[in-house]
Amino acid sequence: MDTVHVVAFNGSPRRHGNTVTLMNWVLEGCQGAGCDSEWIHIADCKIRYCQGCFTCLREGSCPIDDDFQAVRSKLLEAQGIIIGSPVYGDAPTAQLKTFLDRLCLLNLFVYLFKDHHSVGVATSGVAPTGGVARSLAILFGQPSGFIGATTSSRARGYQNLGEYHKKNLPGKARALGRRLVMDIRSPRRFNLPLREILMHRCLSQAVLRPMVTSNPEQFAGVMSLWEENGWSQIISTRKNRLKGLSG
Ligand SMILES: Cc1cc2nc3c(=O)[nH]c(=O)nc-3n(C[C@H](O)[C@H](O)[C@H](O)COP(=O)(O)O)c2cc1C
Repeated sequence: MDTVHVVAFNGSPRRHGNTVTLMNWVLEGCQGAGCDSEWIHIADCKIRYCQGCFTCLREGSCPIDDDFQAVRSKLLEAQGIIIGSPVYGDAPTAQLKTFLDRLCLLNLFVYLFKDHHSVGVATSGVAPTGGVARSLAILFGQPSGFIGATTSSRARGYQNLGEYHKKNLPGKARALGRRLVMDIRSPRRFNLPLREILMHRCLSQAVLRPMVTSNPEQFAGVMSLWEENGWSQIISTRKNRLKGLSG
């Protein structure tokens, strides 16, 4: 069976913290099912804030020269992404959010990770982890699932997930890793609930696509990436319709 390539993308500043521990269990499941893997620790990368210039939409790439492009390329080369972050105030870490902002607009219009499969991971002290884990999984592809763990208790305070965890947590995480590799090898048709698929289709068909094709100068970069992806059909159909209306 073919080996698949999985990137574990850690949003915690701690290389040996709770998030990496949980991600590592997911990765063990992937490795058991046959994958080669690579870690990216976002806190080690030099990534500046998004400047909100919209150049990515006009030109198809970000003008800031730092580690962003290299990290983005590594993620785009992967077939599967395990994306993890601690919960800091109900959100991912600032390091990860800075990367997500740089990616955000192009990902919205070009679906950069449309062929990828993903698992979202989050840990917290006491707060719910599902929201962060789930939204990270959705941002980085077709979600195979998500997993979270709280790590504090009244008796012991902050704990190290490697030492204290619910008995079945590593097993659940490894099963999710195996699921990720299975999904890469034979993708499921629907990984998201139907309601979300319909909402996403509605947004892209009724709002994003018409906006792009009606404003070709603002979105020249998006349109050329669509053409590279073989989506020129979308553009020409819309252009023809517009021509028909004006002619
Ligand atoms: C700056 C900061 C903010 C945090 N905010 C929260 C929070 O809002 N809710 C919560 O339950 N835990 C919070 N925590 C605890 C971490 O989410 C938790 O310890 C997590 O497992 C750390 O993961 P790591 O070891 O991978 O860094 C916070 C920790 C830090 C350092």
